[in-house]
Amino acid sequence: MASYLVLLGPPGAGKGTQAKRLAANTGLAHISSGDIFRQHLKESTELGKKARVYIDRGELVPDDVTIAMIRERLSRPDCKAGAILDGFPRTTDQAAGLDDILGDLGGRVDRVLFVAVPDDELIRRLSGRLVCRAQGHIYQRDFNPPQEPGVCDVDGSELYQRDDDKEETVRHRIQVYRQQTAPLIEYYRQRSLLTEIEGGQPVEQVTADMLAAIGKGS
Ligand code: AP5
Repeated sequence: MASYLVLLGPPGAGKGTQAKRLAANTGLAHISSGDIFRQHLKESTELGKKARVYIDRGELVPDDVTIAMIRERLSRPDCKAGAILDGFPRTTDQAAGLDDILGDLGGRVDRVLFVAVPDDELIRRLSGRLVCRAQGHIYQRDFNPPQEPGVCDVDGSELYQRDDDKEETVRHRIQVYRQQTAPLIEYYRQRSLLTEIEGGQPVEQVTADMLAAIGKGS
């Protein structure tokens, strides 16, 4: 049966960093709602034009648009064995939407890993984040710099700073997270699906804790 993991946590908690590492360890597909939106923005699709207004302001894209996008993504062949959902769901309506989608696919949410990191650390991390243009590999100027400044170690493409990583927008994203996404912690705790992970530790330790939480620890 397919496995579906959800990574929940504030902006900058390390969801993208960890989702890539978990995908490499488990063979599950990595689905990042933020990455999919950014691809649409880059290609100026209709969805991208609709989403840009929200993303630039640090607001959430409306639920109906986001749920439909994730439904389509989860139906693709690379998700047959399951997926790691990074950045989705972010509202209780999205969580209900996910249950419907997975129900239709004959699956369910198996575990939700909640990555906890204090606010001041989130701002510090995001103000120095660098992302690779080709494949979204993630770096941090101080904690995890590339070997050559401005160049991705993995594929050699250019590194850039996300528009929504300006301090003012980051603060607003954290506020939006508290209001609209944090209620999901209780939502999944009540369903006995939540494991809290200490996200302030070094990247490798966070991955080890996550693998242990899903029964794949060494
Ligand atoms: P999205 O792209 O999902 O952004 P986010 O949730 O705000 O998360 P981030 O990507 O900022 O952080 P992360 O937790 O992945 O951290 P990362 O691993 O990069 O969403 C962007 C926008 O799209 C939203 O604002 C919204 O508009 C829209 N959107 C997306 N999904 C949506 C949805 N479901 N519904 C509606 N709208 C949606 O790490 C951060 C930095 O820290 C990096 O530099 C990294 O190198 C560093 N780092 C990571 N781990 C560690 C560590 N352990 N120690 C030190 N540094 C670390």
